Amino acid sequence: MNKDLLKMLDLTGDDILKILDLADQLKYDQHHGLPHKYLEGKTLAMIFEKNSTRTRVSFETGMFQLGGHALFLSGKESQIGRGEPIEDTARVLSRYCDGIMIRTFGQDEVETLAKYSSIPVINGLTDFAHPCQVLADLMTIREQMAHLDGLKLCFIGDGNNMANSLIVGGLKVGMEVAVACPEGYHPDPEVLAFAEGKPFTLTDDPKEAAKNADVIITDVWASMGQEEEREKRANAFAGYQVNEELLSVAHPGCMVQHCLPAHRGEEITADVFEAHADEIFEEAENRLHAQKAVMVLLMGGVN
Ligand code: CP
Ligand code: NVA
Repeated sequence: MNKDLLKMLDLTGDDILKILDLADQLKYDQHHGLPHKYLEGKTLAMIFEKNSTRTRVSFETGMFQLGGHALFLSGKESQIGRGEPIEDTARVLSRYCDGIMIRTFGQDEVETLAKYSSIPVINGLTDFAHPCQVLADLMTIREQMAHLDGLKLCFIGDGNNMANSLIVGGLKVGMEVAVACPEGYHPDPEVLAFAEGKPFTLTDDPKEAAKNADVIITDVWASMGQEEEREKRANAFAGYQVNEELLSVAHPGCMVQHCLPAHRGEEITADVFEAHADEIFEEAENRLHAQKAVMVLLMGGVN
């Protein structure tokens, strides 16, 4: 595996499966009260330039359970917010800590941070990617379906960080991936180039994408940083809702995943959300286990 986890494109299919296997083991250990303090005495710096509930709590709790410590640095309150270059922050944190998790806007910031850090950097969400979430999604799907290869993963909505990461992650583990997005909201060109020639479909027809799907995934129509476009986006995405009618064309027993937070009545109906709440909150729990696996593998607990 690479030094860092910056995007799903950085991982091979085998890397992903290795992370998921360790995540399953760590989940078992935690649920059975078995010790797993693989990162005793180690520290993770967590830089947040956007809001978070799950990412913050799962990384901080995960480090504690692994015997280490996590510290929260808000963009605003640290010197980053006063313009200290990311290159300098990288070299300073590398002398105190054993890993850095960052949630920010541009993927370039995360890439620069990693380039100047001698310690592993983990992307906790950028506008381009959300790899930790997709590892948790794949873990949850594999738990319920017993395998990933050959399953059809369908994403409905904005071609955003989640769509970009699901396309790459799904294809790398042998899934068929179908995405329905309106014109003007397509996934990133780098991701579409990766998907070319693989079992991948991009359409503007949600029913075509959802047909015979084993798992349907959606996300908010306006991501963090796009709040001012909310109305315009609500119009563009009308018709891209995950509802009973859409599920009726999917495979019987189709799973529904949502990274959360969810907007009921927008990208998903309250009925579908509640009918699949167990799967969705298992997915949220699995952020903890998947990220613990990433930290153990990158920060030196297990080879
Ligand atoms: N899904 C997710 O990343 O949640 P948070 O924004 O609460 O961290
Ligand atoms: N696409 C969403 C995901 C939130 C976890 C966002 O970037 O805000």
